[in-house]
This record gives sequence, C-alpha cells and structure tokens, in this order.
Amino acid sequence: MDFILRPWRREDTANVAQYANNDKIAQNLRDVFPYPYTLADAQGFVSSCVEADETCQLFRAIEVDGRAVGSISLCLGSDVYRMTAELGYWLAEEYWGRGIMTEAVRRICREGYDRWENLLRIYAEPFAHNAGSRRVLEKAGFTLEGVMRKSVLKRRKVCDSCMYALLCEDMSPAGD
Ligand SMILES: CC(C)(COP(=O)(O)OP(=O)(O)OC[C@H]1O[C@@H](n2cnc3c(N)ncnc32)[C@H](O)[C@@H]1OP(=O)(O)O)[C@@H](O)C(=O)NCCC(=O)NCCS
Repeated sequence: MDFILRPWRREDTANVAQYANNDKIAQNLRDVFPYPYTLADAQGFVSSCVEADETCQLFRAIEVDGRAVGSISLCLGSDVYRMTAELGYWLAEEYWGRGIMTEAVRRICREGYDRWENLLRIYAEPFAHNAGSRRVLEKAGFTLEGVMRKSVLKRRKVCDSCMYALLCEDMSPAGD
C-alpha cells in the first residue's frame, strides 16, 4: 500500500489522538505510550517530534491518503552507545497487514545510515509475544540476537523481550 514517510507537522495532532487511542497498540509499547491516549498526549508527542534535534533523532509520520496514520523513529544513543540507534514504531490498526511497516522500517533504516555517518547498529526490542512486530523486523532484515528473559513488567505481568539488530553492513544496496 502506498504511503510516505515525512517529518511531523503540528496539524497531525488530531490524527494522532484518533489513531493512537487504541489499547491494541498501547499493550505492545512501553508505558510512556498511554491508554487512553488523549489530545494532550498527542500534542506533547507531536511537539516533541517537530522540535526534535535531527542530529540524534529521526521522527517520521507515516502518511496515507494525506493523513498521519502511524509513527516510526530512530533515536541515537549516547556515551558508549553513540554509534547505535533504537528503532520504534506503531501503526493505526485499520492499516495493519498491508506491508506498510515492513517497508517503513526499511526506509527509515536507510535514511538513518545515510544521514548519520558514524551509525553502526540499529536495534529494536519487541516483547517476545509480539509476533507481528517480530515478523516486521525479520522481513526487514534484522537478526534476532537474543531473548532477554523476564526483562519487562507490562501490566503486572513479567515477560521476555527480544533484541533484534540490523548492522550497517547488513543493509542491502539502495534500490533493492
Ligand atoms: C506491529 C505492527 C507495526 C505491524 O505493522 P504492519 O504494517 O501491519 O506489518 P506488515 O503488514 O508489514 O506485516 C509484516 C508481517 O508481519 C505479519 N504480522 C502482522 N501482524 C501479525 C500478528 N499479529 N501475528 C503474526 N504475524 C503478523 C504479517 O502477516 C506480515 O508477514 P507476511 O508478509 O509473512 O504475511 C502493527 O501491528 C502495530 O502497530 N502494532 C502495535 C504497536 C507495536 O507492536 N509496535 C511495535 C513495538 S516493538
């Protein structure tokens, strides 16, 4: 399905408030992503994206038919992790299963490696039971490096998370 990745705009706030307010999304993310998800949450999120320092953060809206329907980001680490970036994403439920996030992951990883010349590693940490996200990462070329047992406390349940990474040298040439 056609979509574009683009910088966030303040006008996206209402769409974020609408689409992010979904417990099926929140239950797969860190607690910083709330449910219910209010207009104030959306305002705070979009502001932080608009004001982000692109020397260390890439926040992109996933736009379909003129509306922001999801989010994908890369955040560069600091100190000894300054050559590593963390990947995060979510998509409005009505657009699931159409290949959007697999392609969005490929695109933002390429942008990250193109933009930040010292970047060596992009990683993501889905909960182990998040089959959809794990499949997205595998299809986008990430390698499962390990399962971090009992690393997560989410909604009073302890669960495992997975470490997936895509190294710079794992990237296929542009256009593939
Ligand atoms: C996970 C998520 C981003 C997937 O986005 P998407 O655009 O639907 O993913 P794609 O369409 O690119 O699907 C990629 C693959 O995953 C599979 N998949 C998607 N959801 C799945 C699920 N719940 N269980 C098993 N497989 C699933 C698809 O079938 C597809 O594999 P295939 O091509 O072999 O059939 C989306 O469901 C979402 O936003 N979930 C909530 C938030 C979240 O989990 N974020 C990630 C936190 S680490």
